Amino acid sequence: MIYLDSAATTIVHKNVADAIYNSLVEDIGNPSSLHRLGLEAELKIRNAKKIVADLLKVERGSIIFTSGGTEANNLAVVGGALARRRYGNHIITTHLEHPSILEAFAHLQKQGFDISYISVDSKGYIDLEKLKASLREDTILVSIIHVNNEIGTIQPIDEATNIVKSHSKHIYMHVDAIQSFGKLKLYPKQTGIDLLTFSAHKIHGPKGIGGLYIGEGIMLHSLVHGGGQEGGLRSGTENLSGIIGLAEAVKFVTPYIKQDINPMYELKKILCESILDKVKDARINGPDILEGAPHILSMSFPGINAQTMLHALEQRDIYVSTGAACSSRTADISYVLKNIGLPRDIAKSAIRFSLSYMNTKDELFGIGEIVGEIVDELRPFIRR
Ligand SMILES: Cc1ncc(COP(=O)(O)O)c(C=O)c1O
Repeated sequence: MIYLDSAATTIVHKNVADAIYNSLVEDIGNPSSLHRLGLEAELKIRNAKKIVADLLKVERGSIIFTSGGTEANNLAVVGGALARRRYGNHIITTHLEHPSILEAFAHLQKQGFDISYISVDSKGYIDLEKLKASLREDTILVSIIHVNNEIGTIQPIDEATNIVKSHSKHIYMHVDAIQSFGKLKLYPKQTGIDLLTFSAHKIHGPKGIGGLYIGEGIMLHSLVHGGGQEGGLRSGTENLSGIIGLAEAVKFVTPYIKQDINPMYELKKILCESILDKVKDARINGPDILEGAPHILSMSFPGINAQTMLHALEQRDIYVSTGAACSSRTADISYVLKNIGLPRDIAKSAIRFSLSYMNTKDELFGIGEIVGEIVDELRPFIRR
């Protein structure tokens, strides 16, 4: 098997699976219980927070855990906007966000919030001048994705944060860093970001656990009410084994992120060159290979339906996505590809190859040959 769908989810690392198993068997207590077993469980959560906090270069107390990236994004955006409502009702995001942000914004719009969407260029970069021009007296929150999950564009978060904070330091700056966490260096406290979301299953951790960095003095309305865990921001008995798994996954990715150049760039280059060598009219969607995220490569094969290509690859035990996993079941073309202005026929043939630290060069050298064979098989059937 060659797994090239790691932007959708990654293969759980063995150390992570072992740590989760051990935690399920050994960690008996409820972290809220007052006895020793409860305290031990609570200490494990604190330790996990420290591991995440060290990766982000922030304090342990600024991390909370949620049921994943979607919940963390909702808490940041909906919880942040509701908490700041009395100061204004204008919120800003981009056209290239994940549905967990776009739908949270749509929900806020129904509640009377006014939204500005920042447009993007043909490679997916936001227009910083438009961001500047969109800021108003009543702007209370800005949410920008760090790495787009479909085409891998890396947004200029430092500049965007500077623009927002120069307008008013009271505007909440949220970054969906779910695709970049553990892959690119982004330190929220140093950058001035107030809220930053992450998710375990994109870095070889388990599904259904993620979290949020919350900067000092940032107030949020909680969305889940109950026993008051996580400082009242996220009630519910903590998913301890998931949290342990997340921390173990962070330990696995930490040495990679310390390197000057992410080692996945080399893999991405091999993959892309192997395909371009065999399919002459293949084209890259979004940023150039070394400019985009190290693990995401979107390519179109004109005339070839993306789903047909996906299943042809699947038959050869190679797993990829058409566009983003969450939107790929819908018949329409991806809104991300539409927003970067890709012609419909090119968008319909877009395949997302996505890598992880577990892929090897040897797996990737031969992908072009296989894709080339499939293109040659399918091309005669194209209706002209
Ligand atoms: C950019 C981005 N944001 C949010 C999410 C949602 O995260 P989760 O799957 O942990 O809910 C994903 C995952 O698909 C993502 O890629």
